[in-house]
Amino acid sequence: MGIPSKMWLKGMAEQKATNVHWHEGDITTEDRNKLLRQKGATIWFTGLSGSGKSTIAVALEGVLYDMGHLCYRLDGDNVRLGINKNLGFSAEDRTENIRRVGEVSKLFVDTGVIALSSFISPYRADRDQVRALHDAAGMDFIEVFVDVPLDVAENRDPKGLYKKARAGEIKGFTGIDDPYEAPLHPELVLNSHEMSLEDEVTAILSLLRARNVLPAENN
Ligand code: ADX
Repeated sequence: MGIPSKMWLKGMAEQKATNVHWHEGDITTEDRNKLLRQKGATIWFTGLSGSGKSTIAVALEGVLYDMGHLCYRLDGDNVRLGINKNLGFSAEDRTENIRRVGEVSKLFVDTGVIALSSFISPYRADRDQVRALHDAAGMDFIEVFVDVPLDVAENRDPKGLYKKARAGEIKGFTGIDDPYEAPLHPELVLNSHEMSLEDEVTAILSLLRARNVLPAENN
């Protein structure tokens, strides 16, 4: 299993439609942020299957909701049942999965919503591309690496998929016979086997305050 060929990548990410132009509206991102009394941002959870990405996103969403903040969770399994139902787990499809959810995350940020995006997103280049898109638009992209050793994720095996992968019933499973490229400079690393869920959420909240995504006084 290799990294998608540059040619293919270029083909998928290239502007195909001609004679299309961005149509500006009257209401801006800032207007929407004011309406929602918050600032949109993408919090991007990456890590092995079973590392705890979705669990942390669900807990964080609950806490932010109680604080009066609107979030939306984008999650590999959910998105792959809908908008990305035509994508599998080849290197090319994973790249396209991340490209699309990166764009969808940006739309949420533009809406003023805090996007909680949980995807294995095994390729560094794909995550960096999503980061670059956010940077170019002046949007916050906060990469949270949910880092657990493979044996921890495999022992948890919440969906029984590692067992199937070891038995050869699933081919190309991340961590078993497919790569995972750890982030080099994530904004936050959470070792979910050594931290409580509460402490993980607290660490993210502190980071969001430090980055002015959340106001400092909003506890
Ligand atoms: S990604 O690699 O393209 O980012 P994504 O996060 O959307 O993956 O989906 C991962 C989820 O799909 C896993 O949590 C697991 O439930 C399921 N899955 C099914 N097949 C595979 C596979 N071959 N590799 C990894 N995850 C798989």
